[in-house]
Amino acid sequence: MGVFVPRHITEYRLAKDLFTRGRDIILSSDALEMKQFTQHGTSSVFEHCVSVAKFSLLFSYFLEKTIHLKVDRDSLVRGALLHDYFLYDWHDRRPERRIHGFTHPGIALHNADRDFELNDIERDIIGKHMFPLTVVPPRYRESVIVCLADKWCALCETFRIDVSSYLIYRVNYRIALANGELRIIHGNGDTAAENI
Ligand SMILES: [Fe+2]
Ligand SMILES: [Fe+2]
Repeated sequence: MGVFVPRHITEYRLAKDLFTRGRDIILSSDALEMKQFTQHGTSSVFEHCVSVAKFSLLFSYFLEKTIHLKVDRDSLVRGALLHDYFLYDWHDRRPERRIHGFTHPGIALHNADRDFELNDIERDIIGKHMFPLTVVPPRYRESVIVCLADKWCALCETFRIDVSSYLIYRVNYRIALANGELRIIHGNGDTAAENI
């Protein structure tokens, strides 16, 4: 897995970093199921998770630059991408959805543990991201970062403030390239998907 740290942070670089670290999750049909469900405002759960991963990465760059705090970015991105992997429409007005805020971290963790190989940090990120609504506090710095990024993104999405649409576009572009739905043709006829 890559250890790519951009010198100049741009949406392009963030998308590349996010895609490199979370490639197996982003390209899995299970995770892409999250595209079917709305999270906040007009954002799908998939878009929300990509946005949370982006801001988690940004926080981690900031913390490393300012206070030299080391962050496990692979776990950070993978936990962020799966933090809302509950795989249902929480707006469907079923009685059990009234406590969705309390129950979905556990459901997401159960689903993620079933479909992906997770380490302890990734498990903690998913299971504790609703703190303080769920009372057990995060154990790792990566979980605290995702917990904060999640609240920021939820706020922006609820008020329809666009903070991630270009990054989401870049991630979707990379998915299409990886799936062979797009090809970049250069003058000599070669394709260079890895350079995008
Ligand atoms: Fe959540
Ligand atoms: Fe979330």
